Amino acid sequence: LSYLLTDSIFQKQFVYEEVTSTQTVAHELLMEHDEPLLILSEIQTVGRGRFKRPWASKRDTGLWMSLVLHPNISYQQIATFNLFISIAIAEAIKNVTQLEPKIKWPNDVYINDKKVCGFLTEINGDSDGVHTIICGIGININHTIEDFDESIRDTATSFKLESKKETDRYIFIKALIDSIEHYYEAFLSQPFKELKEIYKGYSMIWDRTLRYTEGNKQIYGKAVDLKDDGVLVVLDDTGERHHFISADIEV
Ligand code: BTN
Repeated sequence: LSYLLTDSIFQKQFVYEEVTSTQTVAHELLMEHDEPLLILSEIQTVGRGRFKRPWASKRDTGLWMSLVLHPNISYQQIATFNLFISIAIAEAIKNVTQLEPKIKWPNDVYINDKKVCGFLTEINGDSDGVHTIICGIGININHTIEDFDESIRDTATSFKLESKKETDRYIFIKALIDSIEHYYEAFLSQPFKELKEIYKGYSMIWDRTLRYTEGNKQIYGKAVDLKDDGVLVVLDDTGERHHFISADIEV
């Protein structure tokens, strides 16, 4: 891996055979390192998704990775980080596989209406702002249908299932890291509004009535706007507008 990433900001790479979760390992390693970290594992025994859901992470199938970054930004600025990262992931998938990835706001990437990638962003900070971002990314690459748990076979997919061919995981990792570095740089230097049209081009939620759940609130509606600060505006059947900073959307 290191020879693929000689120009990368991720000069500290930790590659494991098996861990509980690369997120957990990342939280431990960041105590001892001040520089950006890349943590990869072939297997995760307790991979985790958003909303405390488990994330299946078998050997040879996907990419299970956590990145540690030290941006020094305000809590307000972190709100658009996921938007930049989702463009980075979608663009890397498109370039390597020639498939048509779509972003499902705020944290997923889909291909042909099935989930191929999920990521989660955790932060460490204090009264001065956000000091550390721990971004965990899971991508289904060479899964066959049997590699997925039966409960998600209708809703999950992999590059292989969609393109009918194997993807070299290291070629993909290199493309993904390049793309993430590019969009992380953009995140630090440009307001999201400059990338909004690119984001909307990848987005799969426009013009569809979908179910939005955030905490106890649940509505059916259509996304009509994504504000410059990352807030999603959803219009329900009665014409009422709802604002979401994060949500679970059922497609
Ligand atoms: C989701 O869709 O809910 C987010 C899934 C995130 C999975 C990745 S795999 C690498 C990292 N380690 C984890 O335990 N989770 C993230």
